[in-house]
Amino acid sequence: MTVISAIKNRRSYRGKYKPDSVSRENLTKIMEAGLAAPSGCNKQTTSLICVDDIEILRQIHAVIDPPIAKTAPALICVLTQRIPAYRDKCFAVQDYSAAIENMLLAIEELGYRSCWYEGHITDDDRICDKIADILNVPDGYELVCVLPVGIAEEEPVIPVKKDFEERAWFNSFMGN
Ligand SMILES: Cc1cc2nc3c(=O)[nH]c(=O)nc-3n(C[C@H](O)[C@H](O)[C@H](O)COP(=O)(O)O)c2cc1C
Repeated sequence: MTVISAIKNRRSYRGKYKPDSVSRENLTKIMEAGLAAPSGCNKQTTSLICVDDIEILRQIHAVIDPPIAKTAPALICVLTQRIPAYRDKCFAVQDYSAAIENMLLAIEELGYRSCWYEGHITDDDRICDKIADILNVPDGYELVCVLPVGIAEEEPVIPVKKDFEERAWFNSFMGN
């Protein structure tokens, strides 16, 4: 699979996963892809915890309400350190976003599905902090996103996207 076909085939998957486990080898490849992403001033503010232990997954799902990705055999938790890159400039959001997209593409290439769950867990009820407590995440690190990993049991829903011409141009805004 080429990078461009992985980009085009990737979809947010919110359906059921097959019970097949994901090998540590593949989970490591996915996390390596995430950590290979660029980061502002190379500060490498993103860290990862992959959970594939059934008991820890059970504890995590107990604090996610409403539930998401309950059947996924693995969950990659994305942590950030909101430290400045230079002066008062912090690129932590850009850093973890680049890492997440790299992982979503690696997940696609390896034949799994996933979904970028950030809004759901960082809302006012702060599910992210409850997950961080379960994983013994120390002060200075914030859990911002979870990515389920597994083999999809269903077809993903295809979202409606705006046409290319509505959002991208050559040489000037709305140029041709
Ligand atoms: C910053 C960010 C936060 C997101 N949070 C959630 C979320 O909490 N729950 C969810 O179901 N999808 C979430 N998504 C996935 C988007 O809903 C999804 O990317 C969008 O609907 C387009 O669909 P596609 O990924 O299949 O192209 C998030 C995506 C991004 C980039």
